[in-house]
Amino acid sequence: MTENRPNRRSFLKGAGAAVAASSLPLSLVELAFADPAQNFTFAYISDAHIQHIEGAKFVRNWDRGLLRAVAETNLLVPKPDFVMFGGDLAQLGAKAELDHGAEILARLKYKTRCVMGEHDYYLDLGEYWSKLFGEHHYSFDHKGVHFVVLNSVLTYDEWTYHRWPSAEVRMQEMAGLDNPNGSPFMVGEKQREWLRQDLEKVDKATPLVVFSHSPLQKIYKGWNFWTEDAEEVQALLAPFAKANVIYGHVHQIQYNQIGNISFNSVMATAWPWPYPQSYAQAQPHLPKLTVPMNRANPFFERDATGWQFIDVNTGRVALEYNLYNNTNRRVAFNPATGQPEDTVYQDPARRIAPQIHY
Ligand SMILES: [Fe+2]
Ligand SMILES: [Fe+2]
Repeated sequence: MTENRPNRRSFLKGAGAAVAASSLPLSLVELAFADPAQNFTFAYISDAHIQHIEGAKFVRNWDRGLLRAVAETNLLVPKPDFVMFGGDLAQLGAKAELDHGAEILARLKYKTRCVMGEHDYYLDLGEYWSKLFGEHHYSFDHKGVHFVVLNSVLTYDEWTYHRWPSAEVRMQEMAGLDNPNGSPFMVGEKQREWLRQDLEKVDKATPLVVFSHSPLQKIYKGWNFWTEDAEEVQALLAPFAKANVIYGHVHQIQYNQIGNISFNSVMATAWPWPYPQSYAQAQPHLPKLTVPMNRANPFFERDATGWQFIDVNTGRVALEYNLYNNTNRRVAFNPATGQPEDTVYQDPARRIAPQIHY
């Protein structure tokens, strides 16, 4: 019965990734599906940046990125158990943008949950977003895994409430990548206390997956690839034998391991951000494990964008990056080394040299 329907592997090939699919190390694939009863898959779409122009007009390119992710996610076989949207659904937090984004996400055939991004938040501090998507932070359990969603894009009260003449100005100031008027993201004391109480009830052997928008690790402050209280949040996750953090915001592939905590970023459907060291000549604080992407080609509008499906195997995550114009990537936790690895691109002989044209 399934012969005429695309399965996930053939779907990957159909998506123009025959090379990546056929070069996946077989042992990793077998490992991921070694115990199908315990394993499950969910999809992760992020950073759509739906941007309103006027009337019914929206920036076409960003719309198309999200539409394509939704359409492809709906084709997945086996079906993902649920879908996460990782934040920055809107560009400037406008109702029209959030409504339009929500309409596109509503086409997903699966239960969908959302993470707050700074582009969604700083116009009305998440008020309208809440009407569409609910709580800013929450937790849920699924097949023996405890999931937590955090709003990691909060910042100092003085910056949020007292500095700007209008909500629109505040939003504009936070929307710039390298704007010195921005302010560091943080989870904040109140939410950390909620997290502490939430995790108190969870057995420390239970696999834990935390979703945030900004990285819960410090990569580059100048662009807010950063969460100011990352160490305090990490301390709450540290007692768990298997803790995984999945974040958006950076629009590029990053992965890292700090103690028991694995970190994985997801791609944007809208556009890629460059690397701090290649664009701003900034000190490279990228996690040592990360192998930089080849930079985007502006002549391919979907270059260096995409979405991912995630295998949860005995409580660890393997991210399958479905990249529209590029060879797909897979970053999976390797129990033998205790860290996430990209077995294709981490081979030094096959690394792509950093480009300097930025
Ligand atoms: Fe973003
Ligand atoms: Fe963001």
